[in-house]
Amino acid sequence: MYCSAISRTWSLLLLLLLSVPSTITCCYTSIFSFGDSLTDTGNLNFMYPPANPNCLVPPYGETYFQHPNGRCSNGRLVIDFIAEYLGLPYVKPYMGFKNGVVGRENMKHGVNFAVAGATALEGDADASTKYTIAVQLGWFKDMLPSIYTSPSSCKKVFQSSLFIVGPIGGNDYPYPSSGIIPLEEFNTYSSRIVSTITSVIKELLDLNVTTVLVPGSFPYGCNPYVLTLYETKDEEKYDQAGCLIWFNEFFENYNEMLQTEINRLRELYPHTNIIYADYFNSVLQLYRSPQQFGFGENILKVCCGSGGSYNYNVSAMCGSSGVISCDDPSKYVGWDGYHLTEAAYRWIAKGILHGPYTTPKFTTSCIKSVTSADSNINPMK
Ligand SMILES: *[C@@H]1O[C@H](CO)[C@@H](O)[C@H](O)[C@H]1NC(C)=O
Ligand SMILES: *[C@@H]1O[C@H](CO)[C@@H](O)[C@H](O)[C@H]1NC(C)=O
Repeated sequence: MYCSAISRTWSLLLLLLLSVPSTITCCYTSIFSFGDSLTDTGNLNFMYPPANPNCLVPPYGETYFQHPNGRCSNGRLVIDFIAEYLGLPYVKPYMGFKNGVVGRENMKHGVNFAVAGATALEGDADASTKYTIAVQLGWFKDMLPSIYTSPSSCKKVFQSSLFIVGPIGGNDYPYPSSGIIPLEEFNTYSSRIVSTITSVIKELLDLNVTTVLVPGSFPYGCNPYVLTLYETKDEEKYDQAGCLIWFNEFFENYNEMLQTEINRLRELYPHTNIIYADYFNSVLQLYRSPQQFGFGENILKVCCGSGGSYNYNVSAMCGSSGVISCDDPSKYVGWDGYHLTEAAYRWIAKGILHGPYTTPKFTTSCIKSVTSADSNINPMK
C-alpha cells in the first residue's frame, strides 16, 4: 500500500512536470526529411533534367519567396511551417550542401533529402525515379560521418531531431487515362509503397532516431489532375465536395495499411515516438468547408492553370508560357492541379502542430526531455 501511494505521488509529480511547459524546453534542434515535391525545398534546383521543370519558373514561388526556388507551390510548404513553429531556419536541401551552395554550418539544423518527382519504388522508366526514398536514405547515411564525430554525438543529435518520412508514393501509381483502376491492382502498389516506407523508418530507428513524423496520403480523389483525368457525368461518382469517391477510397485504404505498419513499429520500438499525420482528412476538410478556412468558391479549381472544369489542362500547365495564376492564391486550395497552395499547406501544418490530425499528439518536448525529467524525480535512481 505504502509503495503504491508513493508511486502515485511520484506519478502525479511527473505528470505535473510534464505538463508545465517551462520545465521542459522545446528540444528540437533539427529536422531531417525524405519525400517528393510536397516536401522538396530546393533539391529540384540541382536535378538534371528536373522531374518538374515547371516548378523552376514563375509564377512558382510568387507569394512568399517572390521568385521560383525549387518549391512546387506559390510559397511555403508544410515543412517550412513546421520549421517556423519550432524556431528553426527553413530546412536546406541536401544538394545545396553537396554542391557547396549552402554552408555546412546549416547542417546542424537538419537536411532536406526530398526531391520533386521522387517515388517510393524503384524501377520506373521515368527519369525522376532514380531518387527514390531509399536513395535519399543512402544520402543521409553517407552524410552522417561528415556531420557527427561519434555514435554518442549522433545519438544526442538524433534525440533532438524531428524526422519526417513522406509523403511519398503519389508518383508511384500508374494512372491509366481511361476506365477504372481495379482495386487489387491499386492495392498491390499501396502495399509495396507502405513496406518501403516502413523499412526506411525501421532503418532510421535502428540508427537511434527517436521521433519520426509519418504523413499519410492526400485525398487524391480531390486532386484536379485526377478529377480531370476521370471526369464523368455520373454524379454518383462524386461526394458532396465534388471529389471522386472511388479514387479517395484507394487512398483511405492505403492510409489504413500505413497505420497498421506504424502500429507494428511502435510495438517493436517502444521507446520511440512515431507520429502519424492524417493528411487525408486534414485536406478533405478544406474542400468540404472552404469558407470556414477562408477559401473562396469553386474550391476544386486550381489557382494557376488554364481551362477545363478544374482550370487544369495537361497541355497548358502552370509554368507554361501564357498560363497565369489567380489574383489571390490564398483563396485556393489547389495551386497547379497536383500541388497545393501555401494557404492549404499552412492549414495542414496547423493540423499537425496543434491537432487534431496527428496520432499521438505532436509535442515540442521530445523523448530526451521526458526521460531526463523522469530520471530527475524518480526516487529509485
Ligand atoms: C544505438 O544506441 C545503442 C545503445 O546506446 C548503441 O549500442 C548503438 O551503437 C547505437 N547505434 C548507432 C547506429 O549509433
Ligand atoms: C488545353 O490546352 C491546349 C493547348 O493550349 C488547347 O488546345 C486546349 O483547347 C485546352 N483545353 C481546354 C479544355 O481548355
